[in-house]
Amino acid sequence: MRIVVSLALLVAAAGCAKSSNATSAAASASAAAMKNPASASDGATVYLTDCSSCHQTNGQGVSGAFPPLAGNAVVTGNPVAVIAIVKNGLEGRVTVNSAAYSGIMPSWKGQISDDQIAAVISYIRSSWANHAGGVSVAQVESIK
Ligand code: HEC
Repeated sequence: MRIVVSLALLVAAAGCAKSSNATSAAASASAAAMKNPASASDGATVYLTDCSSCHQTNGQGVSGAFPPLAGNAVVTGNPVAVIAIVKNGLEGRVTVNSAAYSGIMPSWKGQISDDQIAAVISYIRSSWANHAGGVSVAQVESIK
């Protein structure tokens, strides 16, 4: 079920991006990130304001309600999928580290700027024990 949700997001993201398939969208998105990743330290402020109430300041989430972002392979995985989730929200069953969640993640598109979305994603991908690269504003803009 988790894989289906992730694939649907990828397909949706790729369909809206300029590239014609998910692989090239992800590749060009990764190239854009390496050129100009948003500042993770700016993202810390966004995280504390808009995300920590559910996902907690330590990224551990709340058991049974809000999934952890720390140690979460989706968060440190394909940046295109992470951007699509944060921009468009997420609803339905997800499984993180063997624990199931079935909540509603609000859409952040229009609530916070693309700059803030890039910064907060760079933050969650590189905080706690996460060690993934940041994402750029251009990448966030390319995913509707
Ligand atoms: C109102 C509570 C709430 C807030 C605030 C919130 N989230 Fe979430 N988030 C959720 C829930 C609930 C889920 C899981 C949705 C589901 O079960 O389908 C989720 C899922 C996610 C996921 C996907 C995790 C996975 O394993 O698929 C990411 C990434 C994420 N949130 C990032 C953020 C970021 C970044 C912010 C701040 C901009 C944020 N969230 C703010 C409730 C919240």
